[in-house]
Amino acid sequence: MDNSDMKQIQWFPGHMAKTRRLITSNLSLVDAVVEILDARTPLSSRNPEMDKLTRNKPRMVLLNKCDLADDKTTQLWINYFKNCGCAALSVDCKSGKGLKFILPTIKSTVLKELMDKRAKNGMTGAAIRLMIVGIPNVGKSSLINKLAGSKRAKVEDRPGVTRTKQWVKLDNNTELLDMPGVLWPKFEDQDVAIRLAFTGAISDDILDIETLAMKLLSYLAENYPTSITERYKIELSDEDTGLELLEKVGKKRGMMISGGEINTERAAITVLDEFRSGKLGKITLEAPPQKEQ
Ligand code: G4P
Repeated sequence: MDNSDMKQIQWFPGHMAKTRRLITSNLSLVDAVVEILDARTPLSSRNPEMDKLTRNKPRMVLLNKCDLADDKTTQLWINYFKNCGCAALSVDCKSGKGLKFILPTIKSTVLKELMDKRAKNGMTGAAIRLMIVGIPNVGKSSLINKLAGSKRAKVEDRPGVTRTKQWVKLDNNTELLDMPGVLWPKFEDQDVAIRLAFTGAISDDILDIETLAMKLLSYLAENYPTSITERYKIELSDEDTGLELLEKVGKKRGMMISGGEINTERAAITVLDEFRSGKLGKITLEAPPQKEQ
């Protein structure tokens, strides 16, 4: 992608250092770490330092928002993480789909050794403590709310807004450590930033909205052509540029401004909104690497 027109996203070094400290200093309080990723962008929505931060702590990956992701590719991602030695499950924290498998999977895989040890020592009743981590907007609050079975007030995950760490007790003798602080994505990679902007995980402001929508349409035309031909009733040609695709959508939707010009800004907002809300279908923005890294 040509990203020369991108603005740099600002993250805060002081805030990052604090989050790093919080995670490492609280690791000893938990039995395992549950890392939530976006099933549409499993690598882009990962914190680049997660391996280093969680050291050897048993870890499980949840591919959240699987209702919005391509099922076939989600399965490839689950296999990918399993091949990397990390248990993985796909979940939908909006509907609650898949959540009932989290604890059994943790007990039978990542915490198997601990469970066996506890069984041997007659301590099967001891609580399981899990740290929940993930970049902003990935679904941490939704997961905790669903598991806890009550609407807990969402506190903004924003640099500068402090909140203290909270333990959330579940009925099944599990305790979740809801971490304060913000986990940053791999922000120095601009393609990653663009994928995160497509999903709305980071602000649209990194690019102007039309450029963002053009890039998304080009990706969809190449990888999920029926998502746009069916939704917008447009025909695609191999030579279509992002702008031409955006104009086709705008024209078809009757988004015109005076003088017969197409309102590409309105078309861009529509395309991004419809993609994010799943109206264009179940779409994944990145496939697992061919070879293990
Ligand atoms: P965070 O704590 O990690 O920052 O994320 P949070 O749970 O606040 O979720 C961010 C947005 O993602 C919310 O939407 C939430 O509803 C949505 N979300 C979380 N999990 C899923 C999922 O599995 N599928 C889908 N489709 N959406 C999910 P929002 O628009 O910010 O709020 P609202 O729609 O809940 O009002």
